[in-house]
Amino acid sequence: MERILVIGSSGQIGTELVETLRTKYGNENVIASDIREPQVQQTGPFETLDILNKEQLLTIVNKHNVKEVYLLAALLSATAEKNPEFGWDLNMNSLFNILNLAKDGVIDKIFWPSSIAVFGPTTPKQNTPQYTIMEPSTVYGISKQAGERWCEYYHEKYGVDVRSIRYPGLIGYKSLPGGGTTDYAVDIFHQALKSKSYECFLSEHTTLPMMYMEDAINATINIMQAKKENIKIRSSYNIAGMSFNPTEITTEIQNVIPDFKISYNPDYRQNIADSWPQSINDQEAQEHWNWQPQYNLSRLVNTMLQNLEQMLLKEN
Ligand code: NAD
Ligand code: SER
Repeated sequence: MERILVIGSSGQIGTELVETLRTKYGNENVIASDIREPQVQQTGPFETLDILNKEQLLTIVNKHNVKEVYLLAALLSATAEKNPEFGWDLNMNSLFNILNLAKDGVIDKIFWPSSIAVFGPTTPKQNTPQYTIMEPSTVYGISKQAGERWCEYYHEKYGVDVRSIRYPGLIGYKSLPGGGTTDYAVDIFHQALKSKSYECFLSEHTTLPMMYMEDAINATINIMQAKKENIKIRSSYNIAGMSFNPTEITTEIQNVIPDFKISYNPDYRQNIADSWPQSINDQEAQEHWNWQPQYNLSRLVNTMLQNLEQMLLKEN
């Protein structure tokens, strides 16, 4: 039986992706792996793996007959700015280790996420197209842009079947974010329910592209299931969900929790956010593999609050 390996499975996306993949392909056929322990109880195999350790990686891949890899291990934008050298090392060498496994014929297919961070201050901010000026100003964005070039290179030169999406900021209730600039849009829900107030590390009019996690997981699985010939972009696809700023998400939360209050205390993450687009044009993803998001801001806010409230009730 050919199996799937998710690397970085204990993180924000990995936690939800593993759950969905296991429902789809069977618990035993999806191997979760991470350098740290899982955040939720596992329903299938889990392996401790440092993706920078090539021998350990190969042992796990051979042990489980892995043919498909979802590589999620990375340092995100805010954390990587604090440790640029390690951010570059982890984000690039994790990708090379997986691309080389495919080049050598050990695995058949790779998913690797890029980010809206590939764009920079000189990129057009509104309706940012697939092909445009890309001069990222963060180490995270530089690593993602370089990663995109390498994905395309490995596809063109060695026929590696690697597929990629430029995720916007992702928001879900099942897992916590891991050190990004868009993390406020998850934290705000937890604080709204716990204390009815939130101090935001971005300023009130900072508009960013965002997406509900279920949409992101669907996009990930859809691009991996699409016919090879439909994947015409082998760097990474723009995808869009919604765009909002802290004031707009606050207004939506106040429709449910009227006495919720927000204050603003921007920190170093403001500069990162200011360098990114405000909205994304995802025409190519729509045309090539039928991408369509299901969640707008209002549906996202209601879903987040209902589910987090139920989780808090169970905890107490
Ligand atoms: P996360 O930080 O929540 O999870 C990353 C996981 O990788 C963590 O569990 C961490 O323990 C693990 N990891 C770190 N070093 C490792 C190593 N050496 N070996 C194995 N595992 C290691 O990140 P996430 O939000 O789940 O993001 C996953 C991917 O998606 C990243 O490539 C990120 O750049 C990309 N992305 C995320 C977002 C978002 O909003 N969450 C947006 C754009 C792109
Ligand atoms: N959500 C991610 C971050 O803020 C974007 O890639 O780092």
